[in-house]
Amino acid sequence: MDKKNLRIEQQLNKRTSLGNKRSLKLVDEKLVDFSSNDYLGLSRSEGLKIQILSAYEKLSPKNGSTGSRLLTGNSVLASQVESELATLFGYGACLVFNSGYSANLGFFSCLPQRGDTILYDELSHACIKDGSRLSLAKSMPFKHNDLEDLERKLKLSEGEIYIACEAVYSMDGDFAPLKALCQLSEKYSAKLIVDEAHSTGVFGKSGAGFVAELGLTEQVYAAIFTFGKAMGIHGACVASNQTVIDYMINYSRPFIYTTAPSAFEFLSIQEAFRFLESKPSLAIALKENISLFNQSLKVQRPSRYLSTSAVQVVITSGNQKAKSTSNELQESGFDVRPILSPTVKEGEERLRICIHSFNSKNEVMGLAHGLNSLLC
Ligand SMILES: Cc1ncc(COP(=O)(O)O)c(C=O)c1O
Repeated sequence: MDKKNLRIEQQLNKRTSLGNKRSLKLVDEKLVDFSSNDYLGLSRSEGLKIQILSAYEKLSPKNGSTGSRLLTGNSVLASQVESELATLFGYGACLVFNSGYSANLGFFSCLPQRGDTILYDELSHACIKDGSRLSLAKSMPFKHNDLEDLERKLKLSEGEIYIACEAVYSMDGDFAPLKALCQLSEKYSAKLIVDEAHSTGVFGKSGAGFVAELGLTEQVYAAIFTFGKAMGIHGACVASNQTVIDYMINYSRPFIYTTAPSAFEFLSIQEAFRFLESKPSLAIALKENISLFNQSLKVQRPSRYLSTSAVQVVITSGNQKAKSTSNELQESGFDVRPILSPTVKEGEERLRICIHSFNSKNEVMGLAHGLNSLLC
């Protein structure tokens, strides 16, 4: 048996020499969090923890779900949570997945079929791209938020056409032009799929997302909501009409061939949305901190990065510069992480700053002033 690691060692060494080798690090709890996706502080909420635990105490014990949803992993609780989510998000039906990654994989690998076309924004998350790659449909990127490029590609598309975008782009923090995307989808009879990972909980009534905030739900074919970011827990769902959900129950391999989320996970989803409903002040505090950050930051940024989302981007260019700026901010007490190439394009290396409802005004202004003195 060949136990040598020669080839993969060379590949890792190449990353080391390029300064972009990934490794697992512990979070330094002493630093102020400007890095996590916990936009509303729900993952650190004692109130939500108590609410989840007290609901869990009332359940008869079933620690694990014991199987796929199609075998022994289904429950009244799972169906109840899905039906509540469908109502909250404004779609006909919902299907819960173990993560946003598997929800996107589950949708894009099975709905678009041979002879169909998937057009995805070039900055779409890896799981949209991976799902599209698994599908037998043809898939093609269009330039980021570029409606002309999209329309050119719509004209070349065959079969059923799926357009994929993110409501808020995870690495850029800017918004998809959803109204115009709805109009184009309508014009070309395409199906618009919106990933609401970074807008779930933050926008819309009761955290129903950005599509709901804009009143466009009727025009969106399906949406992916995730619960591991602003909702502070874990898991995700696909929301669409009942036929799409029935189809996924029959054909979506990442749904069928995996152990269902546990009762604890379903309860956590239910309680997180109930908790959020009782705390409208969180979304308001987040919005105030985002505008304070934008007012205090003097570093020049291209207009597309002047976003009102919780994800704020400062381009530094070059892995070394991104890392050294992040190190200096960390030394000043701010947990800001660099995003390096190849995660983003070469030359677009950056600091990805996540603003939270729980950051104090002094912390937000302190970070902006730190960036001003390092980069202006
Ligand atoms: C836009 C987008 N979609 C999907 C995902 C995956 O969600 P999850 O972390 O729940 O797997 C992410 C995670 O970073 C994301 O940013």
